[in-house]
Amino acid sequence: MRMNILIAALALAAAGSACALDIQLPPETAAYKPSELPGYQLVQRNCMTCHAAQYASSQPSASPRAYWEATVKKMKKPFGAQFADADVPAMVDYLVKTYGAERGAAATVAAAVKPAAAVAAPSTNGKDAKTLLAENGCMACHALAQRVIGPGFAEVAARYKGKDGGAAVAAHIRQGGSGKWGAVPMPPFSQLSEADAAVLAKYVLSR
Ligand code: HEC
Ligand code: HEC
Repeated sequence: MRMNILIAALALAAAGSACALDIQLPPETAAYKPSELPGYQLVQRNCMTCHAAQYASSQPSASPRAYWEATVKKMKKPFGAQFADADVPAMVDYLVKTYGAERGAAATVAAAVKPAAAVAAPSTNGKDAKTLLAENGCMACHALAQRVIGPGFAEVAARYKGKDGGAAVAAHIRQGGSGKWGAVPMPPFSQLSEADAAVLAKYVLSR
């Protein structure tokens, strides 16, 4: 079973999956980091069958909640993991607080479980595009030239060339959605201010 999945994974990588994985990490990353969050138990039960925890620990540490949600759902479909949909929110919560953008928030949040909005990023007004891209994990799904999970930023710029697309693109970044580039949805980034989304849209359209 493991072998078949390994071969499937290698075939996927060979097929040009742009999400390059670093699989040369030290062995202590093989297990998920212990935590009091309920998702820890679920991840141990649901995520160890096919690959080690280093798949999670090698993701960009700025990856936001929406990225982890998309990743966990992808394990079910198309990769075929067998966990219940009801397990997803707790696993995503554990992953984003242990390996992603909400690291460090775990201790305080475990004590007083706050709604996601209360943990949202601080006001990011006035930051430049590069900082915003890094803080929001945009490059986990996008590259400048080629398609990754979402379209390459140069592709987006080419499509909107000569049209005044800034407002539409900024709205797409804040609201997410699918259908413009394919069936895969982009998660919403509603925590971004309109000003920050406009900075990002301008950056993308100038590629
Ligand atoms: C049925 C087997 C299976 C299970 C169970 C599984 N995965 Fe995966 N996972 C895969 C495959 C296949 C890949 C893709 C490997 C590749 O691209 O080389 C992958 C890749 C990943 C990656 C790398 C990023 C990416 O998008 O490719 C992460 C992170 C990850 N899995 C996390 C998880 C988590 C968290 C769980 C539990 C919720 C989980 N996996 C359960 C099969 C599985
Ligand atoms: C989880 C993966 C993922 C993340 C993270 C992500 N995107 Fe996307 N993005 C996508 C997908 C998929 C699409 C295509 C959606 C569609 O077809 O409508 C897309 C589309 C876009 C578009 C095209 C919009 C248009 O109007 O045509 C832009 C621009 C964009 N993303 C920018 C960003 C920025 C900026 C960030 C970070 C704030 C970001 N993305 C984070 C997956 C992602």
